[in-house]
Amino acid sequence: MENLYTQAVHAGEQPDPSTGAVDTPIYQASTYTHHDAEESAAAIEAAQAGARTGYVYTRWGNPTIRALEEKLAALESGEAALAFSSGMAAIATALLSLVKTGDHIVAGRQLYSGTHHIMTQRLPALGIETTLVTPDDIENFARAARPTTKIIYIETPSNPLLEITGIRAVAELAHEHGITSMIDNTFATPVNQRPLELGIDLVIHATTKYLCGHGDAMGGAVIGRRDFVDRTLTNYHRDLGGVPSPFNAWLTLRGTRTLPLRMERHNANALALARFLSEHPRVERVYYPGLEDHPGHELAKRQMVGGFGGMLSFEARGGLDAGRRVLNRVKLCTRAVSLGDVKTLITHPASTTHYIVPREAREAAGISDGLIRLSVGIEDIEDLMADLDQALR
Ligand SMILES: Cc1ncc(COP(=O)(O)O)c(C=O)c1O
Repeated sequence: MENLYTQAVHAGEQPDPSTGAVDTPIYQASTYTHHDAEESAAAIEAAQAGARTGYVYTRWGNPTIRALEEKLAALESGEAALAFSSGMAAIATALLSLVKTGDHIVAGRQLYSGTHHIMTQRLPALGIETTLVTPDDIENFARAARPTTKIIYIETPSNPLLEITGIRAVAELAHEHGITSMIDNTFATPVNQRPLELGIDLVIHATTKYLCGHGDAMGGAVIGRRDFVDRTLTNYHRDLGGVPSPFNAWLTLRGTRTLPLRMERHNANALALARFLSEHPRVERVYYPGLEDHPGHELAKRQMVGGFGGMLSFEARGGLDAGRRVLNRVKLCTRAVSLGDVKTLITHPASTTHYIVPREAREAAGISDGLIRLSVGIEDIEDLMADLDQALR
């Protein structure tokens, strides 16, 4: 296999066959013509059968979007990928393609709030139940599984407390019971962690985050075995319609070329900042899997082969008021939700990203009112430390 740095630059892309343009053009087209009626009929038949050759209509496939899909599949060591208009479109479509009324899902308790909302509000309305478990012990997943369980779903590191779940153990448990295993790999990215190589069936990304990397395009992706992605998932994708625009796919494709370089810096900056904050007198607690005292550190060392990621959370001494003060005083860090941007973003999960999660569920998941989440960017580390230090003091 080619090295990830090389794949990020080259995979899925060739000079444009019609013009020789070296970089993939934005095919800003919704429909495609054919030489005659027979060719149209053949293209539609092939597309219906899940073929990836030829184009009919952009909701069914587009050359810019396809280049992105090929690159994402290569980066995650997957056979095939499908790109979506957002991370939530990818998650919702993947879930709906695998469950029907009466089915059951087991998921780690700390989930992105949108995913939590789908599992606890939208799916129950369709007669699909989810059991949320503490993900630090595989026995919790095993105990929660039922004969009707169709999916085991995890996020590791989790949002926002960076809890670590054993990926290989989840994959093995799921396979033993004929259940599909799914992971949201948005926080780690394929640079740090490649779940398909550990036996997971489906990897999900909010490409809005690190894969795009520049905070300028929404997107999502699902990566897995070709038979599932190109047939079952593709059919749901076409019906539900969460297709990215060619322009957003192009921005994401462009961002993805520098993913390994950016992640090197995100990893290094976050580790340095986590160490700095954990020694800071005004900080109560830091959550970062790269710190030796993080409960998931040993596991993270084994499965996060490229680094511990760019996300960390912390509690300032003094709870909610102290947390709010830090947020109001930062000058370099940007107060904003989202993550994975080259800029450092700072947010208060209880009132922003996890606002729609009911307080009891937030508390059960360990998300305190004073928690602050940082998406550590690629700025100079001394500048970031100085900014947080002045905000904390
Ligand atoms: C881990 C994770 N998964 C999925 C999503 C949803 O992605 P999007 O906002 O692109 O729909 C997010 C959004 O913040 C996220 O943090």
